[in-house]
Amino acid sequence: MAGRRRRLIAGNWKMNGLFGPGRAELGKLARKLLAAPPRGADIVICPPATLLRPFSDLLRELGAARRIALGGQDCHGAESGAHTGDLSAEMLRDAGARYVILGHSERRADHGESDASVRDKVVAAHRAGLTAILCVGETAAEREAGQALAVVRRQILGSLPESAEAANTAIAYEPVWAIGSGKTPTGPEIVEVHAALRATLAARWQEAEKVRILYGGSVKPGNAAALLGLAEVDGALVGGASLTAAEFWPIAGAGG
Ligand code: 13P
Repeated sequence: MAGRRRRLIAGNWKMNGLFGPGRAELGKLARKLLAAPPRGADIVICPPATLLRPFSDLLRELGAARRIALGGQDCHGAESGAHTGDLSAEMLRDAGARYVILGHSERRADHGESDASVRDKVVAAHRAGLTAILCVGETAAEREAGQALAVVRRQILGSLPESAEAANTAIAYEPVWAIGSGKTPTGPEIVEVHAALRATLAARWQEAEKVRILYGGSVKPGNAAALLGLAEVDGALVGGASLTAAEFWPIAGAGG
């Protein structure tokens, strides 16, 4: 492995979180991170967009804005316009986000997002000055058919735009079957996919060695250290276990 890339530990709250309880959990996490900051990791929380502004205000109030960055969970490709219900990358940024998760398998499944539409969104994130966390991952059927590597290669090649740099883009490998299931691939299976992604990126992109490739799918306090200790794993994208400070804090610590 090349020189150690700084870890990125991101929490994806998905469609969970209301103002009062959400604020309380973020406050707890911020206080823990202020007391004992993980030195080698960037920490990001991606709440529902409704909470970006209040969370940004809270982090500033607590003096924790440098310890926890905020991210969105999706954005539209356009800057503004007649797109009812959508949010632009500029709006996320305006509300306090510095990151945005794009191409998550739940969006690909629920909203029919294609590699091409995800690519447009990554371009939009870069245009707005956000770091894109670009998700790829195979379904159980694709893995059983021996297609896992081919699927993630196709997704990455189809959705990574020319504007991508290591500073504005991270990749998250999230096998669809590992999300919310309590199942994870074996260590060698994860390393194989991460190495294949990096090799695919290296074939067309000078920055490939610097880009962070995260693992996501049933990351918990009990398995975080082992997952983050794998070669080529530069961080984690955490769903359920990011919803409480009690569970997310040890994962953030395992990354540091
Ligand atoms: P879980 O950690 O709940 O499996 O979710 C993973 C995920 O989808 C993060 O984006």
